[in-house]
Amino acid sequence: MNPSCGKVYLVGAGPGDPELITVKAASLLKQAEVVLYDYLVNKELLEYCQTGCELVYVGKKKDKHTYPQEELNDLLVHFAQQGKTIVRLKGGDPFVFGRGAEEILKLIEHQIDYEVVPGITSGVAVPAYMGIPVTARHVASSVTFVTGHPAVSGKDVVDWQAMAKASDTIVVYMGVSNAARIANELVAGGKADNTPVALIRWGTYPQQEMLTSSLKNLEQDMQMAGFKPPALMVIGEVVNFTKQLQPIIQSVKTKELIYV
Ligand SMILES: C[S@@+](CC[C@H](N)C(=O)[O-])C[C@H]1O[C@@H](n2cnc3c(N)ncnc32)[C@H](O)[C@@H]1O
Repeated sequence: MNPSCGKVYLVGAGPGDPELITVKAASLLKQAEVVLYDYLVNKELLEYCQTGCELVYVGKKKDKHTYPQEELNDLLVHFAQQGKTIVRLKGGDPFVFGRGAEEILKLIEHQIDYEVVPGITSGVAVPAYMGIPVTARHVASSVTFVTGHPAVSGKDVVDWQAMAKASDTIVVYMGVSNAARIANELVAGGKADNTPVALIRWGTYPQQEMLTSSLKNLEQDMQMAGFKPPALMVIGEVVNFTKQLQPIIQSVKTKELIYV
């Protein structure tokens, strides 16, 4: 490692609720000289930062790429070469659909010291806040975390038909714009068309919203609700738990869009 360079911490910020950050992450935010943070990071977490800490927004919204990944990697190197202590704060966990590995490879290339601080991924916490356990005995013995983002070529990167039979619960990140296609493919692959689906928007934030539907009705229900990202899609029988568990464990109020 190059001793004249600073250190970069790749830190998970958790899914949104500011209390769902780790003790280690909060302590690093207090020490940081530069923090680069994403769109899905709760901005309240920046209150941990000391006066004078440089805050750099590198967030991306869908189709509005504020920072191409390559430029972001260069920015990390740039600050590290100034000898600074840097926190790269990412929504959820840095290694779950977070491109954390790409950033680290760039740091290694420049002999820059780094550390990864895992965070609570939205794929588990967001359903949990809605009373949806991603696994449950006798109901779901397997769960798959998957991206719903279609490939640039327009071809799916995931074999949805194969997944239909392979996993009890399917948790889809970044799947809102492709949701109807995913539902159709899963049914074509053998999932029952009445399989429950939950779409949860801004989960664990005070403005969280949930739409519940089925694979068969999903497209129509989303249109009726005008459902928009960012959201997580949970597919499987575990969604039914929300009817019993949501009022008990939910810590923030939820706007229910549709309830089947
Ligand atoms: C680029 S991925 C990053 C995932 C993140 N690294 C994690 O572990 O949660 C972004 C996607 O995560 C999901 N997501 C993250 N936070 C969310 C939240 N609070 N509510 C609903 N979905 C969320 C959405 O599907 C969003 O499009």
